[in-house]
Amino acid sequence: MAKTKSIYVCQSCGAKYHRWQGICSECNEAGTIVETLVDTAPNAGAKVAARALTGFAGSSGTGICTLSNIDLTKQPRISSGFTEFDRVLGGGIVRGAVVLIGGNPGAGKSTLLLQTVAKLSMQHKVLYVTGEESLQQVALRANRLGLQTQNVKIAAETSIDAICQMASTEKPEILIVDSIQVMHVTGIESAPGSVSQVREAAAALTQFAKRSSVSVFMVGHVTKDGTLAGPKILEHCVDCSVILEAGSDMRYRTLRCQKNRFGAVNEIGVFAMTDTGLKEVKNPSAIFLNRSENVAAGSLPMVTWEGTRPLLVELQALVDISLYSNPRRLSIGTDQNRLAMLLSVLHRHADFALGDQDVFVNIVGGVKIEDTSSDVPLCLALMSSFKNAPIDKGTIAFGEVGLTGEIRPVPFGQERILEAVKQGFVRIIVPFDNAPRTKLQNVQVIPVKRVTDLLSLV
Ligand code: TYD
Ligand code: MG
Repeated sequence: MAKTKSIYVCQSCGAKYHRWQGICSECNEAGTIVETLVDTAPNAGAKVAARALTGFAGSSGTGICTLSNIDLTKQPRISSGFTEFDRVLGGGIVRGAVVLIGGNPGAGKSTLLLQTVAKLSMQHKVLYVTGEESLQQVALRANRLGLQTQNVKIAAETSIDAICQMASTEKPEILIVDSIQVMHVTGIESAPGSVSQVREAAAALTQFAKRSSVSVFMVGHVTKDGTLAGPKILEHCVDCSVILEAGSDMRYRTLRCQKNRFGAVNEIGVFAMTDTGLKEVKNPSAIFLNRSENVAAGSLPMVTWEGTRPLLVELQALVDISLYSNPRRLSIGTDQNRLAMLLSVLHRHADFALGDQDVFVNIVGGVKIEDTSSDVPLCLALMSSFKNAPIDKGTIAFGEVGLTGEIRPVPFGQERILEAVKQGFVRIIVPFDNAPRTKLQNVQVIPVKRVTDLLSLV
């Protein structure tokens, strides 16, 4: 019989305690500590992988070798069949890599993986393990999506031991596990989805992937506040963590890379959810922009940089007299603190006071922007809404605003300008240091140095 003992584990950060306490001293979350029974034998998850791997390797390590002597020729990346997905992964699936796909329920994680598996199965051996749906449900969905499934191997299973066993006999190149929260590892007594189960299950799958060079995709659920359920350690142990997000407009899904050991982070891929599954959107700039003839006050397109490419999105601001003593400041899709900072900068350095006004900011299409290049367009949109003066059609802007009221350059200025020109913009407001040295044909580039320069443009 396995020896077990009881410890107290924080469900948010994974910290362990000998006795119960109300607030976790590691992450300060309240009421997250629960009693958990654990196997006292060290590293139960590792043992699972080791048990399954006897057919693959034998010992658990590789021994010492020289880094330059490691053979890389047999490691080309595998294409997922979706160019958007490949780009988010940094150019395709790396052998032996573990990819975590997070997202809200209904975001389309299972749909994306099922479509990917069907495309991959044309040239590669794949195994799809579902722990949440029955085989019939998956088959029905595949049928409805019109997928070619004659080469797709599938199993309904929730035991990591059994999955590792199956994978070591089947020897697939790609293994999909949907989802990590319903999996359990033998030897750990707590319920599936608890911190210790999720951690050990992920650790076992990761070790299995590394030693057998099988690429593993695992689905992870997100909690109410949008972080991946389970301990942070889940994101530490995987090679690549991507989030599938549904915007406010439910038709589009963005796949965003949060961590990638083999490519750029913050890379996004855009998909449209149709009645026949997910379809790639090849030119995302086109869907986020308003192409109507009349422009309204408070609205301005901007060029943001996501991962390795520019993306054009529309920014909207609404400034209105506040009925409360504490005016409201709300931003959707951009950083709220940054909005507060910009309002102060505008007041102090451009004499543009909105102290008695409610201010709302939104990025159209449910995109989230972390790039600081939204500062200049945001200031312009605020001025435009306040003065009720629409900004000329064909105008686009980008640039960062500093605390002293200066406008600072942003990375990839030239590439952003080129993308704006490609999309048909004729008036581009840019930081002075990002202005191109040579004059562009038929395009007016307006370099700005300080926030006061923006006032005259609206
Ligand atoms: P699903 O992949 O089950 O989500 P997850 O695994 O992330 O929980 O996707 C379910 C959602 O996708 C559901 O809201 C319906 C929608 N959907 C379509 O619109 N069209 C389709 O062809 C499919 C399969 C799903
Ligand atoms: Mg699902």
